[in-house]
Order: sequence, then C-alpha cells, then structure tokens
Amino acid sequence: MKQIRLNAFDMNCVGHIHQGLWRHPRDRSTQYTDLAHWVDLARTLERGLFDGLFLADVLGVYDVYQGGPDAAVRAAVQVPVGDPLLLVPAMAAATTHLGFGVTANLSYEPPYTFARRMSTLDHLTGGRVGWNIVTGYLDSAARALGLDGQAAHDDRYAMAEEYMDVVYRLWEGSWADDAVRRDRAAGVYADPARVRAIRHHGPHFRTEGAHLCEPSPQRTPVLYQAGSSDRGRRFAAAHAECVFVNGGPKPHVARLVADLRGLARSLGRDPADLKVFVGATVVVAETDALAQAKRADYERYASVEGALAHASASLGIDFAAQDWDDPIRAGQSQAVTSNIENQAARRPDKVLTRRGLVEGLSLGGRQVPIVGGPATVADELMAWVEEADVDGFILARTVTPECFTDVIDLVVPELQRRGAYKTAYTPGTLREKLSAPGDRSGGSPRGPRLPDTHPGASRRWRP
Ligand SMILES: Cc1cc2nc3c(=O)[nH]c(=O)nc-3n(C[C@H](O)[C@H](O)[C@H](O)COP(=O)(O)O)c2cc1C
Repeated sequence: MKQIRLNAFDMNCVGHIHQGLWRHPRDRSTQYTDLAHWVDLARTLERGLFDGLFLADVLGVYDVYQGGPDAAVRAAVQVPVGDPLLLVPAMAAATTHLGFGVTANLSYEPPYTFARRMSTLDHLTGGRVGWNIVTGYLDSAARALGLDGQAAHDDRYAMAEEYMDVVYRLWEGSWADDAVRRDRAAGVYADPARVRAIRHHGPHFRTEGAHLCEPSPQRTPVLYQAGSSDRGRRFAAAHAECVFVNGGPKPHVARLVADLRGLARSLGRDPADLKVFVGATVVVAETDALAQAKRADYERYASVEGALAHASASLGIDFAAQDWDDPIRAGQSQAVTSNIENQAARRPDKVLTRRGLVEGLSLGGRQVPIVGGPATVADELMAWVEEADVDGFILARTVTPECFTDVIDLVVPELQRRGAYKTAYTPGTLREKLSAPGDRSGGSPRGPRLPDTHPGASRRWRP
C-alpha cells in the first residue's frame, strides 16, 4: 500500500491560510516571535513522523484589496511576517529527522548569496533542508525593492530558469567531492585545484566566483515548487522534487498530477521522483459529531475581510472594486493564475464571481476542510492518494498547535493501523527519506544528492 506522507504548512506570521483564527482562545499563532513556539512545533511534528515542516513566505504586503494594506494589517494577513530561514537552525537542533521546506523568493536576491545561505542551512541541519522556489506575486514587493512593478507571470518563470542554472553550478559544480582535505599535517584544508569559480553572464544574472561553502550533505537542497499554471507545471516537471498543489475536485488535481508526471517523463526523469503533495485542511476529533462541532467553533473566529484581502492579493484582483456577480478570469491577473483556475474548477457549472468566492470560504480561507473522526479523515486522505495519485499532504494550520496534535494523536495511528503510514523514520537526509525503499510509492532509492536524471546533476564538477 502506498505510504501517505504528511507535511505541516505554516508561516512565520499570525494569519497564514485561514484568516481570523488567531482570535480563537486556544490558538498560539501570536507567539510566532518566540523561538520556543517553533521548537515545540518541530518536536511535535517529529513525534508524528511528519516528513517536513513547509514554511511559506511572502515579500511585500497585501495591498490589492481596497487599494491599500489596511485590511491585511488589521487582520494580520501574512503581515507582520518574519524570515522563515532564521527559524530553521533552532528547530533542527531540537529534532533529528524532520525536514524543513523553506520558501525563498528568487526575484530579489542574487543567486550567489542565496546559494551560500542554503548551503549553510544544509550543513547545520545535516541535510534536512528544502527550498520552495518562488518568484513572488506582489507588486508591493517589487516597489519596496526599488522596482516599478514585478515582471509578468511567464517572464518570472524565464528568470527562474536562469537562476536555477546559476545555483546548480554553485552547489554542484564549484567544489569537487574531494576538494576538502582537512590535512592538519600538510596544513591543507582544501585543495585549491579542486575549487573553481563559475562564470555566468545571462540576461538577468551575472556571477563570477566560487561557491563560498564547502560541499554540504545534499549539495542542492530538496527542491519544492508550488506553481501549477501551464508554465508553472513545465518548470516544476523540470526542476521540482516535491510539488505542492492546491486542493479542489479530485479529478482536477488528478489531471494536474498526471500532466506533471507525464512532463517529467518526457524530460527523461522518473515520474515517481516527483512527489506531489496536496494542500489540505483537516479538522479531526474523536468522533464525526465532535469534529463538526469543532469546525463550527473555529468558524466563529474566521475573518471574511481577512480572507478577501488574502484572495485579492494572491489572485491579483481587488474584490472590493469588483461587482458581486462580475466574472473573474485568469487573464486579468499577473499573480497566482493557477489559484483562479483552481477556484473555477470547484464549480465548473458556474462562472466564478466575488459572490461565489465568498460563499466558498471556510474557516477564513479558500481550502475546503476535511472534517470528521479519525476513520472518516483517514478514508478521505486515502481516497485522495488513490484517486489523484498524490504522495501526501501539506496540512494548513487552523487553530495551532492543536490542528497538528489532533492529526498526530488521532489520524496518524489510524493510518498506521491500515498500513498507510510509516511507523519510524528512515535514516538519512531529507532527499534520502523522500525516496526511502520502505516507501512503496515508487521511485528508486536515492543517495543524498540529486538523481542523475535531474537537470542540476548535469552541473556537477567535471575535471
Ligand atoms: C499552494 C501554493 C502555495 C504557494 N506558496 C507560496 C509562497 O509561500 N510564497 C510565494 O511567494 N508564492 C507562493 N505560491 C506562488 C507560486 O510559487 C507561484 O509563484 C505562483 O503560483 C504563480 O505561478 P502559477 O500561476 O504557475 O501557479 C504558492 C502557490 C500555490 C499554488
């Protein structure tokens, strides 16, 4: 039976996916500035044998709704937001196996400095770090960083292709495997003949220099990607090792997944090397009735205004300026176009409108929650894996940390009883865990490095 993989989806902020729930008396998301909050979360997730903690990030504020940031600031919609990378070392020190998928936007940082930060994290975590490759979707970020506005949707992917080539060369090709000698007697730490500068002069980036870090366990961090427009899927099929897709009707997601795996195969990759995780929100309690009551309790704290501020920015459309019944189309947006396609797929019989969007909100967000007792939730998670060919889930936080402890205490044992969830971690780096032989989801066991069929592998050191 295919093993279900679980990841937590969180962000270094108060309001992440489900807006308003920070007001719930048991919610602890306002403690996001305390390191102990994150260390506790990491320990909790490792107790539940989660593969990873996936940390979202965004640069810029959500100022599309009502033409300004007030609604987002009032409701703490992904602002204030701290740097996700800085949380990782403390959480890594408190855990042994948990992986960390960290979002970093490549539009505003040169590949040379970014490559060093990720290699540093790969060393400090013992090879447990991943990178969610994003290019941003907010004009407010571009303006804050001195530009007039962000590049167009497909141009951002073209820039990302070039960026990947530079970081692959830094991570994979600048230091030979045997460059570091640590020879105390000879006084040679590293052999200068085995360290070389990379030279890149492209339309977006110029770099001349050797990578500043010695080879880390995974070299290239595990690569995540979350764009699923046509252009986004082509990028993911080429580069991603883990793809994060939004929920929606299972047949819609199944088509996305089949397309992704087919594209990967056409590029010479093993489609099973592409792990696909679907974004999900779970509300679970001891029985179906108690879970429904918990959901109703959470719902009382949901913020519709916060959800609209979030949706306006990520879909790139000001819903305050949009008539209730005006159609919403992907062509209007330079933001996350696949989010619009995803919303539309949920109600194929209807034209997507502001009214439809608001009616579809749940728990202050656009994800339709899976609500029930342990057996009901396990049935649904297993149906997703079966019908949509996904490898697992990225579980959004609702009321934290109980949204994660509930899954760990109630759903994980149920899945384990059914043989659908591991009972122990496999040793090794995050990449090795994702391709562990005990994982019957397919793919061949891999080492800590990128598989030979991955484009980054072609950038490895050659004499
Ligand atoms: C489920 C999901 C999660 C995402 N998380 C982030 C994020 O944390 N930060 C970010 O800047 N972009 C994020 N994005 C945006 C994507 O990385 C991508 O830039 C965007 O979806 C535009 O590409 P697309 O139209 O191909 O989907 C996310 C997108 C999706 C669908």
